[in-house]
Amino acid sequence: MWGGRFAEGPSALMREINASISFDKRLWRHDIEASRAHVAMLAAQGIVSADDADAICEGLERISDEYETDGVPEDPALEDIHMHVEQRLAELIGPAAGRLHTARSRNDQVATDFRLWVREAIDEALASIEALQRALVARAEEHAATVMPGFTHLQVAQPVTLGHHLMAYYEMLRRDRSRFADARKRMNECPLGSAALAGTGFPIDREATALALGFDRATANSIDSVSDRDFALDHLMASTQCALHLSRLAEELIVWASQPFSFVRLPDSYSTGSSIMPQKRNPDAAELVRGHSGRIAGAMTALVMVMKGLPLAYAKDLQNDKPPVFEAHDLLILSLSAMAGMIESVGFDSERMRAATEAGHPTATDMADWLVREAGLPFREAHHVTGRAVKLADERGVRLWELGLDELQSVDSRIDKRIFDVLPVQASVRSRTSHGGTAPQAVRKRVEAAKKALGMNE
Ligand code: ARG
Repeated sequence: MWGGRFAEGPSALMREINASISFDKRLWRHDIEASRAHVAMLAAQGIVSADDADAICEGLERISDEYETDGVPEDPALEDIHMHVEQRLAELIGPAAGRLHTARSRNDQVATDFRLWVREAIDEALASIEALQRALVARAEEHAATVMPGFTHLQVAQPVTLGHHLMAYYEMLRRDRSRFADARKRMNECPLGSAALAGTGFPIDREATALALGFDRATANSIDSVSDRDFALDHLMASTQCALHLSRLAEELIVWASQPFSFVRLPDSYSTGSSIMPQKRNPDAAELVRGHSGRIAGAMTALVMVMKGLPLAYAKDLQNDKPPVFEAHDLLILSLSAMAGMIESVGFDSERMRAATEAGHPTATDMADWLVREAGLPFREAHHVTGRAVKLADERGVRLWELGLDELQSVDSRIDKRIFDVLPVQASVRSRTSHGGTAPQAVRKRVEAAKKALGMNE
């Protein structure tokens, strides 16, 4: 297709290093769609005849049917998906096929095809994130009042509700959706018609092609258009951040499923056994979500490194843009789906979580707050007094609320029996009604808003 000025064909190794068909065949639908829009515009502008345009469209239609039923037949000599489509078109309709490539180049063609693909990938990611959010919100509603240990440093810190903890992931995913939506909006401009890098002298209508392909407008600079891959990086960065969130949730499920914790029981459908230890139930799906996040971040880094230092405009390095994006997308969708499945079916052991919460004096802060509120102590002094009460409880081997009033008063005489109202873990979570706090009523309020945002009440 470009051999006019060459005496010899490419060597076998040149073919091998040059070919991208093994992976860019994933763009075939987008390539045909963009060609249709391009030729319709060429005809409308009087650049190709209506007859040729019709023949090209019919040919493209047939190629689409062929690929749909038989897949793309790979020929490394034809390099990439763009040349495969064009070659097949020539076989089907003859010389008129050669008019399709008027006023375009593979440089703006691939930039356009890939944008169309990434746009779809973003829509798929948005839907998958939403599905996981629904699963989280449903479980959070169910466990709005279930008490569990809240951790800092993975040490029991203060009692929280499981619903509140799960809703923390809802918020992370909400930001992920906004990042993807933002990327979609920014990328939705059409490079087609930028040609090789300088634009074209043909009287094309770039705005018409852009609108036909569902873009908001045509891109503004032809050099930028063929060399820009920000849209792919935006997708990878949003994917990476989402994968990080999934990885943290996966890690928690893995820890919670470990016997010394036993906060959760992952269902058989998301566990595997061991070939040697008959008692084992391993959280492989969660571990793979955690592991996949590393590969997604790696894909993001791979494209960053490909782009770094590339001079304008197009260079063949850019052909390396697709594998990382495809890989990250596939892994992210799989991870999101598996995580939604796990969240829907995981069994929470509320009794176990409550027992774990009661160990380690998690309501010491509540006691200090009481001393400030009811006995008028400065917080620093209240902190000190409570510390002494904790020490006494540890010496006696009891929980804070199991100390007698006389024992508490021996620590500080300003303590009276009302202190017992704030020491139980349930009382502690019920009291944390501040905006964004862990109280069951605050969690239910946030769950309601989330259900509304996700259209879960309809
Ligand atoms: N397969 C190429 C890619 O993905 C298409 C563009 C080729 N352009 C060129 N000037 N060789 O980047």
